[in-house]
Amino acid sequence: MQLIDGKATSKVIKEEIRTEVNKLVAAGHRPPHLAAILVGHDGGSETYVAYKIKDCEEVGFRSSLVRFEDDVEEDVLLGKITDLNDDKELDGFIVQLPLPGHINEQKVIEAIDPAKDVDGFHPVNVGRTVIGLPSYISATPYGIIELLRRYKIETSGKHCVVVGRSNIVGRPMSILMSQKSINATVTVAHSRTKNLEELCASADILIAALGAPGFIKGHMVKEGAVVIDVGTTRVPSSETKSGFRLKGDVVFEEVAPKCSFITPVPGGVGPMTRVSLLSNTLLAAKRNIGD
Ligand code: GUN
Repeated sequence: MQLIDGKATSKVIKEEIRTEVNKLVAAGHRPPHLAAILVGHDGGSETYVAYKIKDCEEVGFRSSLVRFEDDVEEDVLLGKITDLNDDKELDGFIVQLPLPGHINEQKVIEAIDPAKDVDGFHPVNVGRTVIGLPSYISATPYGIIELLRRYKIETSGKHCVVVGRSNIVGRPMSILMSQKSINATVTVAHSRTKNLEELCASADILIAALGAPGFIKGHMVKEGAVVIDVGTTRVPSSETKSGFRLKGDVVFEEVAPKCSFITPVPGGVGPMTRVSLLSNTLLAAKRNIGD
């Protein structure tokens, strides 16, 4: 069994990005600039946005944080998105999800200029991804593809089972795995799937993205399978300073001994998701320069 080290891989990619930024700046361009809009004070969202800002600093990007209280009116938020769309000093931005219930999330996503949508959530980017055109690919699927590539994991002709069909992870993941450069045969499983256990056990590559801690157990995994655990559910813990820890969708102790490759939680997909946002922002900056 080989552990897929997302933390180490993301460090290597950050170094690569840092080198690219240095080249851009040496050529007289401003550094890439990412903005994040954060509505309210949800603990998880606060943490994720703080990481995004810190990541920008580490690779030499500029970053901006735009905050609204959770009673912000939808029109005010949409107005800010228009401003950011028009801001020539900004390469890309994200609106941290989830948003408060009175705001239409889809309307917000569709208000973002696809050229600045470094989250890859806009239907234009999703559609371009589906037909294999250059696009911003959402960060988690992008990070997983990068792990498979860098660990030289054979995907062609393999049966890939993606458990979960969210717009952010499961669905784009299934599309990417079926593309010509990857060539897997893909099954998307979800809450209504029959014989889910048998289906998972038939996977050469199992991608667990349901957000149900410990759902995938040892008997659901084939000997020699590649297992990618996308789950990062925050569960209470008395052993950490923050009072919580991240738990994956896979029971690691049961599953790992059967795998050829497996991602841990934490330290697997999570750091790759973070670095993929940086990769998309660098791409946006280069497109703006016309590089
Ligand atoms: N909430 C959870 N994951 C994400 C993400 O990747 N982007 C945004 N904008 N919000 C999120």
